[in-house]
Amino acid sequence: GPDAAADAPQIRRPISTVGVVGTGTMASGIVEVFAKSGYDVVVVGRGEEKVQGVLDRITKSLDKAVARGKLDEDGKAAVLARLTGATEREALADVDLVVEAIAEDLDIKLQLFADLDRICKPGAILATTTSSLSIAQCAGATSRPADVIGMHFFNPAPVMKLVEVVTTEQTAEDVDETVRALCFATGKHPVSCGDRAGFIVNALLFPYLNDAIRLHEAEGASLEEIDDAMKATGLPMGPFELLDVVGNDVSLAIQQTLVGAFGHEGWTPAPTLEKLVADGKLGRKTKEGFHSY
Ligand code: 3HC
Repeated sequence: GPDAAADAPQIRRPISTVGVVGTGTMASGIVEVFAKSGYDVVVVGRGEEKVQGVLDRITKSLDKAVARGKLDEDGKAAVLARLTGATEREALADVDLVVEAIAEDLDIKLQLFADLDRICKPGAILATTTSSLSIAQCAGATSRPADVIGMHFFNPAPVMKLVEVVTTEQTAEDVDETVRALCFATGKHPVSCGDRAGFIVNALLFPYLNDAIRLHEAEGASLEEIDDAMKATGLPMGPFELLDVVGNDVSLAIQQTLVGAFGHEGWTPAPTLEKLVADGKLGRKTKEGFHSY
């Protein structure tokens, strides 16, 4: 409507350089999102090889875009030129925003937030893309909880439009508004939500995925039949295809968090999910999950 521009969130803390911590699927996708939108990105990983892995994955993704005629060689070179790799967190001293996408382990996250607090310049926004941990707890590891916020991207980050923007009672208004404006500036669709387990999407999606496993366990239908039926309703992927994309370890952790938070016994992780994780069959990333790749 006519008031849309007036209501649009504004960038209230200038962002030109973004730091991304982590070298997994989500980190790589998030780096790609910011670099394609013109931001300089510093990628911090635990070793040269891991950081190189992110650069290689992005190069491959850009090559695909070139092959499909969505990007030319100059455009590709420009995106790559915006990337800087580093193996020390100190490289984040001058960035305007950090998005962390490291392991979903509270102690590891708390140590990272303490480091960011020590290293980052005053006023830097400290964001986490955690899908199952409390933003308030991450904020509590810093002396600047007003600067801490959740930016929950979805997999694959370069394609999925949604970003859940998660504020705590302590998140500053200008941090929230800047992050929502930044989502629009990178072609994303921000939705604000509170700091509760599963936020919005995972709180609804993972009980469904878990129920799909239980349906299969009850011998009601094969994996293929269930995937086929759900896709024919218009979903882009069936539940088992999606579980394999997300990663069974990640799905198990999310499901456990939901049970812990809401105490809903029917949501207890399905035995097959536990077994696949114990067997190291984590999905696409290990070439074996509910399906083989
Ligand atoms: N990086 C960059 N671009 C990619 C990409 C990637 N990893 N994967 C796909 N693309 C691009 C393709 O180049 C293509 O672009 P174009 O049409 O403009 O040429 C476009 O995306 C569509 O890709 P494809 O044609 O290859 O394949 P599909 O049409 O089957 O789409 C999909 C692939 C977008 C992954 C689709 O299958 C899908 O939407 N799946 C569901 C994903 C989903 O629900 N994710 C949420 C999981 S939950 C989560 O992440 C929460 C967390 O906390 C666990």
